[in-house]
Amino acid sequence: MGGNRVLVTGGGGFIGRHLVKLLLSKGRMVTVLDDLSTGQIIDGDPNVRFIVGDVADPVFRSEALEDCSALIHLAAIASVPRCEGDPSLSERVNQRAAINLFDEAAKAGVVAMVHASTSALYGMPEFLPISESHPIAPIGVYGLDKQAAESAIIGRVDVGACALRLFNVYGIGQPIDSPYSGVLTIFSERLRNQESLTVFGDGSQTRDFVHISDVVQAFAMVLESLEQEGTESPVHAKALNVCSGQTRTLLETIEAFGDVIGISPIVRFNPPREGDILHSSGTSEALMDALGWSAQMNFTDGLRSLVS
Ligand code: NAD
Ligand code: UD1
Repeated sequence: MGGNRVLVTGGGGFIGRHLVKLLLSKGRMVTVLDDLSTGQIIDGDPNVRFIVGDVADPVFRSEALEDCSALIHLAAIASVPRCEGDPSLSERVNQRAAINLFDEAAKAGVVAMVHASTSALYGMPEFLPISESHPIAPIGVYGLDKQAAESAIIGRVDVGACALRLFNVYGIGQPIDSPYSGVLTIFSERLRNQESLTVFGDGSQTRDFVHISDVVQAFAMVLESLEQEGTESPVHAKALNVCSGQTRTLLETIEAFGDVIGISPIVRFNPPREGDILHSSGTSEALMDALGWSAQMNFTDGLRSLVS
């Protein structure tokens, strides 16, 4: 292993903040590059160097890469509807910035890099559960830009590199006041305020919800393997699912929330969201085989932690 400093782009965001905390607990020094568009600053920790800046700007990328031996790239427009509404922003941040960052990181001496990819790359599933051999057929701007970034990282031959295809990540720490937050965060907040829930479509759509604590463990394990074994790592040049296999329909999640809180939620139905995938359910056997990772959080316990 080279140095001790990890660059976490998007480290002020939902996944980023949990990941930075985990890396610090392992004795790592962390640089964060984040423009605070949806994230928040981390201050007061001497082991965190927080740079407020745009990852699409080469000057900030160069400053952020100083002294870093590893990279975890999370900075992105993570909201599917926001990308559909502003395709040029998505292309600039989710695609071009990522591709440039990977090249510059390798030139700067980074020995291991991990990218936050997405299950949205699979598009409308042809079979379930979705394994990595499923065809790639993104249906929207978000998925297409993420696919281009993913191809750039898993094609690297010079440094240990891996992409993690995250399914629907949930847990505390997602902004509660944003219309772009994940559905479980929105539901838990509305229930806390005794408000009705809005379901887009008939609520029969399924999602594979994976808890944030499991997701950040996956990033840390993959990073360590790449740092130790480089291009010989079993995860090098791979794009791997990070999911729980605990798939629920939206109506089932509402019922589970009701059980956990002890109320009967009021539900309103709106037309389906444009570009919405109907069913999503994954298998993470490949990451299990490579590094022994599997999701540990039980769904009901995860919901309980969200509303507590
Ligand atoms: P998030 O919005 O909380 O975090 C993204 C972070 O990136 C934020 O802190 C934001 O301020 C920052 N950012 C955005 N544009 C930037 C720019 N131009 N320059 C610098 N920083 C910028 O989202 P998240 O849920 O933490 O997602 C993190 C990553 O994981 C994203 O790449 C997302 O696409 C991916 N992902 C998330 C999920 C999920 O369910 N949350 C699922 C699949 C993939
Ligand atoms: C999510 C991620 C995205 C990731 C993808 C991977 C967020 C915000 N987005 O997208 O970054 O790449 O998973 O699979 O986490 N819904 C309602 N009512 C609401 C809100 C949402 O019915 O109030 C529905 C949506 O229409 C959708 C489902 O809930 O059918 C999930 O939506 P959402 O949590 O926004 O996630 P994805 O669109 O799946």
